[in-house]
Amino acid sequence: MILLGIDVGGTGIKGAPVDTDKGELLQERFRVLTPQPADPENVGNAVAEVARHFDWKERIGVGFPAAIARGTKMRTAANVDPSWIDTDGKVLFEAKTNCKVTLLNDADAAGIAELVFGAGRHHTLGLIFMITIGTGIGTAMFLDGKLVPNTELGHIEIRGKDAEARASERTRLEKDLSWDKWAKRVNEYLVKMEKLFWPDMFIIGGGVSKHFDRFSPYLEVKARVVPAELGNEAGIVGAAMAAVPHNPYYLDQSAIT
Ligand code: BGC
Repeated sequence: MILLGIDVGGTGIKGAPVDTDKGELLQERFRVLTPQPADPENVGNAVAEVARHFDWKERIGVGFPAAIARGTKMRTAANVDPSWIDTDGKVLFEAKTNCKVTLLNDADAAGIAELVFGAGRHHTLGLIFMITIGTGIGTAMFLDGKLVPNTELGHIEIRGKDAEARASERTRLEKDLSWDKWAKRVNEYLVKMEKLFWPDMFIIGGGVSKHFDRFSPYLEVKARVVPAELGNEAGIVGAAMAAVPHNPYYLDQSAIT
């Protein structure tokens, strides 16, 4: 199918039509800055602007940086305005775009794309963690190819702090950390995750995946660690894949009572 995937991030909102059978963007992605405050009204309008850019009338998949109960209600809002909490995001985005919307966590979306078309495609069995490192740290957990949605493991505590506050890409840039200093923080995070879950593989996504060589020598976990292959496009591709009706990756639960 050809569906529009939109990835809402703390910094930018980007989208493109996706061939969901090939996992490829069919047009150059369109990006707008995440409006401030990043509240439901402003972000809803920005998502609608992306859909309008492509003159979109079909289904849309939206990845959003929050835990989203049953693909409808936002439960967290770490890098967007707190007024999102308990907002029905699906209803809001459908009203703003006039399209049917499937809504899911952004890291879950990126993970789906990587598992099917990217770094995880030869690994259908076992426990795989997708970790997206950007404005925040997002996680997606797959057991034998099946997503456990809404894991928020970027917020485990390390040295008394939220893990993403120590090891996100934003922190690296804001604190002007050298690659090796930052890599040690990422390592500390992965080691902690390994001690808790013992996954078979970590896939590192987000913008930093293209600089994988600069931090991978510092990673000491026993599991394999590989960079995402779809890079920053994974979130767009996976959001569109999740919007395919009756797809095997993500169940749109909004209709289930
Ligand atoms: C949010 C997650 C999101 C991650 C990456 C975190 O701050 O809590 O829901 O997946 O950032 O955007």
